[in-house]
Amino acid sequence: MYLVFLGAPGAGKGTQATRVCEKYNIPHISTGDILRANIKQGTPLGVEAKKFIDKGLLVPDEVVIGLVKERLGEEDCKKGFLLDGFPRTLEQAEALGKFAKITHAINIQVDEDLVVKRIAGRRMCKCGESYHISWYDKDACQKCGEKLYQRDDDKEETVKSRLEVYKKQTAPLIEYYKQSGVLYDVDGAQEMNKVFEDIVRILDDND
Ligand code: AP5
Ligand code: MG
Repeated sequence: MYLVFLGAPGAGKGTQATRVCEKYNIPHISTGDILRANIKQGTPLGVEAKKFIDKGLLVPDEVVIGLVKERLGEEDCKKGFLLDGFPRTLEQAEALGKFAKITHAINIQVDEDLVVKRIAGRRMCKCGESYHISWYDKDACQKCGEKLYQRDDDKEETVKSRLEVYKKQTAPLIEYYKQSGVLYDVDGAQEMNKVFEDIVRILDDND
């Protein structure tokens, strides 16, 4: 299966992607995670990406497309993959269509009020796990014990700009994948396990 996860910032793409990839044994490719890792390591790509991410803007298409194309060319992607946070523009979707055939685009739907709450309370671990203060009040990761932190772009002002960018540049991809006949909507406002069950049902019923 060759999956794309669509959804606003904070919709739960990362949370569900981790579980889906574990279940189906496919690589989880999050462009956000790749860019943040580059920022942390201080690579030229990271230095460039930080200018955009800190403002809640998209990193230029050519940069992200090159990065994903290279990653999808690796051996572990031959039998399937899950793209989380890519594509995010029509140009990215069209480029992706030239080097991969997407089988399912899962659109995780959540209202704006709820995503704002989710982002405000999100705490991350460097191992990739993500928590929310409403159900996890400790400051160390359950999986690896590392100290949790808040993402730099989760500040209120940046979140507003990320949501605007989503509405203008990324939401049109829902129609794009609908036209391609591979779009599946999921109610992302439900409890996490329920969202996961719905995604699994879609993937198993439309193999
Ligand atoms: P990216 O890292 O992709 O961030 P995003 O799309 O803004 O999405 P988030 O990671 O914030 O949310 P999520 O949907 O993964 O939610 P999560 O599972 O964590 O991108 C960051 C930046 O990088 C972009 O702004 C851009 O600058 C750049 N970038 C990345 N890709 C790019 C591209 N292709 N092109 C150009 N630029 C790019 O959940 C959120 C919280 O809610 C967590 O606390 C979680 O525990 C909680 N939660 C999740 N599900 C539930 C549930 N069902 N019930 C209750 N709580 C829940
Ligand atoms: Mg994410």
